[in-house]
Amino acid sequence: MALRILITGASSGIGRAMAVQLAKEKNKIAITGRREDKLRETAEEIKKAGGEALLLSGDTSEPQTVTRHYGEIREKWGGLDWAILNAGISLRNPGNHFSADIYKKTFETNVFGAAYWLEAVIPDMVKAKNGVIAGISSLASFVGLPQSGAYSSSKAALLILLESLRVDLAAFNVSVVTICPGFIKSEMTDKNDPRDMVFVLDAEIGAKKIIDAIKKKKRLFYFPWPLAIPMTCILPNLPRGVYDFIAQHAIKRRLKKDEQKAAP
Ligand SMILES: NC(=O)c1ccc[n+]([C@@H]2O[C@H](COP(=O)([O-])OP(=O)(O)OC[C@H]3O[C@@H](n4cnc5c(N)ncnc54)[C@H](OP(=O)(O)O)[C@@H]3O)[C@@H](O)[C@H]2O)c1
Repeated sequence: MALRILITGASSGIGRAMAVQLAKEKNKIAITGRREDKLRETAEEIKKAGGEALLLSGDTSEPQTVTRHYGEIREKWGGLDWAILNAGISLRNPGNHFSADIYKKTFETNVFGAAYWLEAVIPDMVKAKNGVIAGISSLASFVGLPQSGAYSSSKAALLILLESLRVDLAAFNVSVVTICPGFIKSEMTDKNDPRDMVFVLDAEIGAKKIIDAIKKKKRLFYFPWPLAIPMTCILPNLPRGVYDFIAQHAIKRRLKKDEQKAAP
């Protein structure tokens, strides 16, 4: 039977790849994002793959936009079977140029954007005693990665929020799946120095792994394991002096590379 699925942030990257893969199973897919032209491309791919697309353009950090979008979904499909909360931004935020504005913008999208959708979809899922909510956190949520304080802490907030909701909603047959990917090729990571990224996966492979985890209703899924083990088990448990030594070494390497790039 066709599922009614929401994917936020489906105008590019992992969101678009998930939308196309789920369309091959003839599902109905509501896609969100701010760039309408990019969303149209995703909608075309969904249709070509055999699915039905509902295009919802707008900013997920605006509560009134989310209310309007969920209203359209309800009117058209009566509700959702899956809500995949994937929209996110990553802005570099070095401590010596700390910007509260970057911090606010990051939380407004990565945390509040998800929270507005949770507030919209949970009542109907609870009433129907049916639903799966999946949130895309990150392996960056387990430690405060240098120069990424805003991103790491936003993904940690999302992870902890989902952990809490998973327990609350289990009694209502609503499953909550938390996904923590490592590096995946997308517009977000295209701006990174490739030498800073290890065990990088294509968006299609990442999307497949995420969809498999959602189908299995995995509580907490992190991948790929060669990066997940150090990020979830080793780095968070090291004496902080050892962690600082490793992280500072990595930052020095990055600054040196930046200087070399800037040199005439
Ligand atoms: N790539 C990785 O290595 C990686 C690793 C771990 C976790 N993740 C997470 O995976 C998710 C998808 O990222 P990606 O790698 O696929 O990056 P991406 O290609 O940049 O996709 C991000 C998506 O989020 C949407 N978005 C951003 N801000 C939004 C807003 N205010 N309102 C509505 N939509 C918004 C973007 O659409 P518009 O620009 O059109 O609004 C885009 O569709 C993110 O949550 C990211 O943090 C990525």
